[in-house]
Amino acid sequence: MRHRFESICPYFAMFPASFAERWINICTKPGQLVADPFSGRGTAPLQSLLMDRRAVAGDINPVAFVLTGAKVDSPARSSIVRRIKGLAEEFEEDRYVRDAAALPKFFRRAFHHTTLRQILYLRSVLDWRMSRVDRFVAALALGSLHGETGSYFSNRMPRTISTKPMYSLGFWEARNLWPEKRDVFSILRQRTAFRFESQPPKLKGAAYLCDARQFGFAASDSRRKVDCVITSPPYLDVTNFEEDQWLRLWFLGGREVPTRGVHSCDDRHRRPADYWSFICDAWRGLRPLLADKCHFICRLGGKKMSVDSAKTAFQSSMQFLASKWQLVDFEISQIRRRQTDAFRPGSIGCKFELDFHFVLEQ
Ligand SMILES: C[S@@+](CC[C@H](N)C(=O)[O-])C[C@H]1O[C@@H](n2cnc3c(N)ncnc32)[C@H](O)[C@@H]1O
Repeated sequence: MRHRFESICPYFAMFPASFAERWINICTKPGQLVADPFSGRGTAPLQSLLMDRRAVAGDINPVAFVLTGAKVDSPARSSIVRRIKGLAEEFEEDRYVRDAAALPKFFRRAFHHTTLRQILYLRSVLDWRMSRVDRFVAALALGSLHGETGSYFSNRMPRTISTKPMYSLGFWEARNLWPEKRDVFSILRQRTAFRFESQPPKLKGAAYLCDARQFGFAASDSRRKVDCVITSPPYLDVTNFEEDQWLRLWFLGGREVPTRGVHSCDDRHRRPADYWSFICDAWRGLRPLLADKCHFICRLGGKKMSVDSAKTAFQSSMQFLASKWQLVDFEISQIRRRQTDAFRPGSIGCKFELDFHFVLEQ
């Protein structure tokens, strides 16, 4: 059975847990430290902890930070249950009437008015940056915010990406869909019970909300050096993580419209030259954390790249990560239709993924 924490919330361009599991088995021993500076939904760090390795992770996107943080530093189930109970007891619907009315029309068609007021309340009180209990509750809320069925807060929406306001309004209008009343506290209680059907990892890891280019600085309090990196940077010109998750970002305090470059800086690079320069800078940022000898596993892909050009550019980026490096394994996988949908339904142009395994020496 897949660990119940894995799918707390969907996330684009994630790699499967089996990918992380395979490389953790090949490259590490229990107790060693695995790092992922582009952690997304936290697949590699969660898998590392489940296999008794240590984990340190970073991502620039607050949604990724909340999901990764919830998984690698989960509080006790009883604390979460208590917090949800307290939140439900303290909720005063009247206090959010005005805020709900001031939101753009999208929100009033996306959520029943009572549900929307509950969401606004959670949005204002959850301290997901500082409190691990609140971060876990926020992660559950992010995974419940929008979806297709009655176990989500919203009117019918995909659960993967947050569709844009105009598109969503047109979709609901054309089908005469109105939001049903959903009690967010009951849904959060049910989801807590479901997630904790798996034992949380025994070890705790660390997650940082940071640009990969500053990861070494952000995680500098880590006492161990990194024995293995398992990561997957944004692919070349494939998706805007921030725009695709605009509603989840709004829940975490962001703007009430889709944005680009507000939270995530330059998370989509369109020109190969910019992309490879970004990758080199990210490796520079990671390098201070690495042990003298370390494994480096990276999956990447993108539009506008051939296998040969990507392989050459990637190998050349290694100079920013180590003094010596050796390519031990290189695999190419063709992306089939269903996998491209993991980026964005209908996404085209990213035809293959490349998996690199290097051994690095400082
Ligand atoms: C391919 S996804 C990683 C998915 C992850 N392996 C998983 O299984 O969920 C790339 C991630 O890089 C993040 N990202 C983009 N630009 C970044 C930057 N400058 N610093 C740190 N993270 C960044 C995106 O937010 C996204 O979560």
